[in-house]
Formats: sequence, C-alpha cells, structure tokens
Amino acid sequence: MRVIQVKNYDEMSLKAAHIIRAQVELKPDCVLGFATGSTPLGTYANLVKWCKEDGLDFSQVKSVNLDEYKGLPKDHDQSYAYFMDKNLFSQINIDKANTYLPDGMCVDGDAECKRYDELIKSLGGADLQLLGIGNNGHIGFNEPADCFQNGTYCVELTESTIEANSRLFEKKEDVPRFAFSMGSGTIMSAKRVLLIANGKAKAEAIKGLMAGPITPGCPASILQMHPDCTVIVDDEAMSLVTG
Ligand code: PGA
Repeated sequence: MRVIQVKNYDEMSLKAAHIIRAQVELKPDCVLGFATGSTPLGTYANLVKWCKEDGLDFSQVKSVNLDEYKGLPKDHDQSYAYFMDKNLFSQINIDKANTYLPDGMCVDGDAECKRYDELIKSLGGADLQLLGIGNNGHIGFNEPADCFQNGTYCVELTESTIEANSRLFEKKEDVPRFAFSMGSGTIMSAKRVLLIANGKAKAEAIKGLMAGPITPGCPASILQMHPDCTVIVDDEAMSLVTG
C-alpha cells in the first residue's frame, strides 16, 4: 500500500485527480471506477476543469460506480446516478451510454446484482477504482460484517452510515435502508485502487485500513492485500496512525 500524506482536502483532491488523469492519458479507453460522497467532489472538480480547459479527453472512457441506494430513481437528487451526472458526467465529454451504476429501482434485486457483476466482467474490470471510506471503515457500501462479500449484493446499511448520510436528506427517515454495492471481491479485482480520505472523522477508519488486522469488521482493511493500492490521506485523517 502506497500512502501519500497531504496537508488538506485541496491537496488530496489535486493529487487524486492527477492519478486519474494519468490513467486516462495512458489508456484513453480505460474503465474507471467512480465513488460518490463528499470526498471525491474536489477530485471531480479538477477533472472537469482539465477536460474543459486542457482537453483531457474522456470520450473513450467507460465507468462503473461502486453502489446505488435501493429504492431511489435515477432522477432523485440523492441517488448516486444523479450525483454522478451532476458532478461529473454532465460536465465532461464522457459518453453517458458508457457510464454504469446499479439500478436502484430494479424489483428483482438478485437479478440486478448478477447483471451488474456480468457487466463489470464484460468490461474487463476497472483499470482504476476510486474509493472513499466511511467513518466505520466501509468501502462502497461494504459495511462492517462477519465476512467479506465477493460480488455485487444488496446490503442493509448500518445505523452509523444512515446517520452520516442523513445530512444530505431532509430527515433521517428518508435515508434508504438498503443499497446495492460492489462486493469487496469486485473492488479487489480492480487493477489499481485509489482511496482518498480527509478529516478527523475518518481517523479511526484509516487506522483500521492501514494498521489493523485484515477483517470484515473494517471492510477497507482488505486493501492491505491489494497489489496496487494508493491511499491519499490528509494530516487529520492520518492522526491516529502517526500519533
Ligand atoms: P464521504 O463518504 O465522502 O461523504 O465522507 C465516504 C463513504 O461513505 O464512502
């Protein structure tokens, strides 16, 4: 695991965006794995800027997203499809037909998980998977559990995640209780992984990721086994590792 410690959110966002930019320039038809949440917003803003101003070209890029809330339609302003469209896809020259997320409205959950796994496989997997990390150590919506999940599955969100995400909804009761998520196995099958984290609230999770045992109790800890994982983390998020 390669750890890049930075001072703050902006530095983290810039470094992460440079890595994604290099991936796109080296392999213009690459498959990028995207994440949602507050953490990647600055990274996406840099990519948008470079696409508009420097001609960074996403026209051949394909993308897969980590997860989607179950029960939210694509046009719901808290769905991850909506988030991606607003913060990235509508602002860069990616072909939207080549951007994929689980379908939160699919009635047959098992069929949707199977479809999404087959789709990712048919694309050859992600060349680079971007990840945030939850306060509880989740990656995607792989919540702390008794065992690691392999492929895409329907997950019941923990109280801690519902609490953390309720800031984006009118009231806590509006946060969906279930989501579709790539499993840890799918995330691990990405050729490269790039995890970004900032702020004190992430310090415990970062400690688990870097210094704890590999356990589904801290889902991100599985990344210790990934052969090409870069973590960009700011001083605050790193504070429990560096003392
Ligand atoms: P955040 O979420 O970027 O909004 O902190 C990260 C995550 O839950 O994976």
